[in-house]
Amino acid sequence: MKICFIGTGYVGLVSGVLFSDLGNSVTCVDNNHEKIENLKNGIIPIFEPGLDELVIKNYNAKRLFFTTDINHAIKNSDIIFIAVGTPTAKDGVSADLKNVYAVAQTISKNINKFKIIITKSTVPVCTGDEVEKILRKKNSSSKFEVVSNPEFLREGEAIRDFRYPDRVVIGSNNPKKTIPILKKLYEPITKKGAKFISTSRRSAELIKYAANAFLATKITFINEIANLCEQVGSNVEDIAIGIGTDARIGSRFLRAGPAYGGSCFPKDTKALTKIGKKFKTHMSVVETVIKSNEKRKNNLADKILNILKNPKGKKVGFLGVTFKANTDDMRDTQCLKIFPKLLKKGVKLSYYDPTGEKKELKKIRFIKNTKEILNNNDLVVIHTEWDEFRSLDFKSIKNKGVKIFDMRNLYQPNEFLNKNIKYYSIGRPTNEKKA
Ligand code: UDX
Repeated sequence: MKICFIGTGYVGLVSGVLFSDLGNSVTCVDNNHEKIENLKNGIIPIFEPGLDELVIKNYNAKRLFFTTDINHAIKNSDIIFIAVGTPTAKDGVSADLKNVYAVAQTISKNINKFKIIITKSTVPVCTGDEVEKILRKKNSSSKFEVVSNPEFLREGEAIRDFRYPDRVVIGSNNPKKTIPILKKLYEPITKKGAKFISTSRRSAELIKYAANAFLATKITFINEIANLCEQVGSNVEDIAIGIGTDARIGSRFLRAGPAYGGSCFPKDTKALTKIGKKFKTHMSVVETVIKSNEKRKNNLADKILNILKNPKGKKVGFLGVTFKANTDDMRDTQCLKIFPKLLKKGVKLSYYDPTGEKKELKKIRFIKNTKEILNNNDLVVIHTEWDEFRSLDFKSIKNKGVKIFDMRNLYQPNEFLNKNIKYYSIGRPTNEKKA
């Protein structure tokens, strides 16, 4: 089967490369010449552990191709995935679909035989209907089918998530024609145990938003429970185990931390409230989740200021600045909301990140290693759960009065009992009475 991915962003690149690794012939298209030339040379534009080797392997095996020639790629393919970005629009809430519609126009001009057009980008319910309308203007409906196939890849875990997903969701309004073809495409994955779920196109579009909004709700819920734990002296990790072992609740995505961030949850929760408005359905739970998550970043900045007591001139070093570990993605990362508040109070900030210096943090000093962060600050904030922060060398700290605020609960409070370090974490008793 000849496949084409339009858009070599996170979703398009990872999925395209992994479909080629399953033996398919895959062409990845992008309008950015530099990106395409780099990919041909094995230089990948994102940080995703293991992806570079797979690009080189499949490119050399001539199963994976990179091009800017979108017309040729479409003509030459049986299955076309639209995987362009759907960022938040200028109104600050809706998904901006102009890239999706522009690609649909281009596909429309190049349908030379039957093709399945798949929206892989996260798109609001009914977008498939619009794509179909665009294609119908120039083509008979027997020449194409528009299908929704949402992705559930987590950054940093994308290769594993692609190979071993819980489910594959296909939304098609003509299942007789499309499902056998797509079942075959996904067979190497479903054979290993992933569920194949066939729905209508609109349902599949909504599944993606509902999944992300539900996960964001779960995280926000446990974060609020963590706030309560801090007041009553309970331990949020015990609560997470205590509720997560109930199969009706499930144990995953119950890690309390510094609010959810990233390229998906913030964008998709907002877009879902907008979809609700469009269809006159108040998404009150999701609206509350968004508000609570925003407030949390503000509260964490306040907590840091409280720990510092007199913040002016105090030095605070952050370990990790991305929205989670194993990614270099700074989109909607929590610290971007925390830093301005600290700077305003005269705090001197610095940071170390395993993925290097960040253009978003021009005013903040980048430090090249954890050791310097540990030794030169009044407070060290563990903001991201990178493995290299899990066994920090606290013994080497010369600065005796140092405080640690572990926003990812990587350590246990009692590990610090006999050390000269004040340790604060999320939703657990500290080794000092109150921050
Ligand atoms: C998410 C979805 O998980 C994925 O299925 C979807 O397709 C894309 O969006 P991603 O944004 O890469 O993936 O990261 P994820 O691992 O889901 O984490 C999102 C945010 O929630 C991060 O800031 C993370 O730190 C936070 N999080 C996650 C928690 O605070 N606690 C948890 O238990 C899990």
